[in-house]
Order: sequence, then structure tokens, then C-alpha cells
Amino acid sequence: MSNSNRTKLLLDIGTFLAFLITMDPRFSGLAIHEWLSIALAGTIIIHLLLNWEWIVNVTRRLFVKATNGARINYVLNWLLFIDGILIMLSGIMISESAMPALGVTLPMNFAWRSMHDISANLALLIMGLHLAMHWNWIVTTFKRVFFSKVKKQVSLSARQEA
Ligand code: HEM
Repeated sequence: MSNSNRTKLLLDIGTFLAFLITMDPRFSGLAIHEWLSIALAGTIIIHLLLNWEWIVNVTRRLFVKATNGARINYVLNWLLFIDGILIMLSGIMISESAMPALGVTLPMNFAWRSMHDISANLALLIMGLHLAMHWNWIVTTFKRVFFSKVKKQVSLSARQEA
């Protein structure tokens, strides 16, 4: 198991849990909702940089010899990215905690509030599809990261006992 796959998996699990928390501002409280999602933008940038090679390769091959699966994946990733920008932008425009704390006050506008709701719900749907498309990688990497050590220890202690 390469270190980079382990880093990717751990970062992805953290990002996903943070995403679930941000999806329920009533549960977390508004201040946590806003600061956590601003931090989430940073982890998403790292996620993109760690997967940059895949992005460049698929972009190059997209119209030549990419599989249909890779093409669907690619379009989904872009939709998720654009939707993420809409969520962040609208979130900042309706911010009641983070922006005022930074001394920025923005005029209230109902359209931004609706955009925030719609883009957040859309993200849930696209994120579900995104996870489904990467399910094999998630399960395989998860098993390698969390269970290969256990297996090694079991076979080592079995050998020591023999
Ligand atoms: C990953 C990013 C984000 C996600 C998934 C997300 C998701 C949501 C959801 C699901 C709601 C509840 C909508 C409803 O109950 O009708 C909400 C409300 C809200 N969000 Fe976000 N949001 C994100 C980022 C942000 C950011 C960056 C800010 C501001 C800096 C922000 C500020 C707000 C505010 C002020 C509300 C209204 C809360 C209320 O009126 O009760 N959000 N967000």
C-alpha cells in the first residue's frame, strides 16, 4: 500500500464526514457549519492536487480512447466542482457568522439563500453518484489500509506460536 493512497483515503474519509456535518447546520450550529465548510474548501483543493495525474490523463484521453465509465466520472467530477463553487459562493453571500466575524457584511438576498439550498441538495445527489463510481477503489484501499496490518500481525503471531 503506497503512502499516497493511504493519505488520499484518510483525507477522503475526513472530507466526507465534514461534508455530512455541513449538510445539517441545525445539528452543528451555524458557526461550525460556516467555518467547517470554509476549511472543507481547502481539503477539496488538496484532494484535487492528489488526484491531479488522473485528471490530466483522463482529460488527454477523453475524446480519444477513454472508457464510458471514465467519461461519466469526468463529467460528474466537473458537476461536483461547479456545484461546490455555487454552494461556497452562495454560502458566503448569506453568511451570518464567518463573514461578519471577518468584518464583511453583505446585503441579504433571498436568491442566494435558494441557490444555497438547491446546490447543497444537488451536491448530496452528485456525491452519492461520485462515491458509487469510485466504490471499488474505496473498498480495496480501505481493506488494504485497515486490514492488511491485522492480517500481517495474525500470520506473524501464528508463525511465532508454531
Ligand atoms: C460544503 C459546503 C456547504 C454545504 C454542503 C452547505 C449546506 C447547507 C445546508 C444543507 C443548509 C440548510 C438549508 C436548509 O435547511 O434549508 C445550509 C444553510 C446555511 N448555510 Fe451552508 N453549506 C455549505 C457552505 C456554507 C458556507 C461556506 C457558508 C458561509 C460562510 C454557509 C452558510 C449557511 C447559512 C447562513 C445557512 C442558513 C442557515 C439557516 O438559515 O438556518 N454554508 N447550508
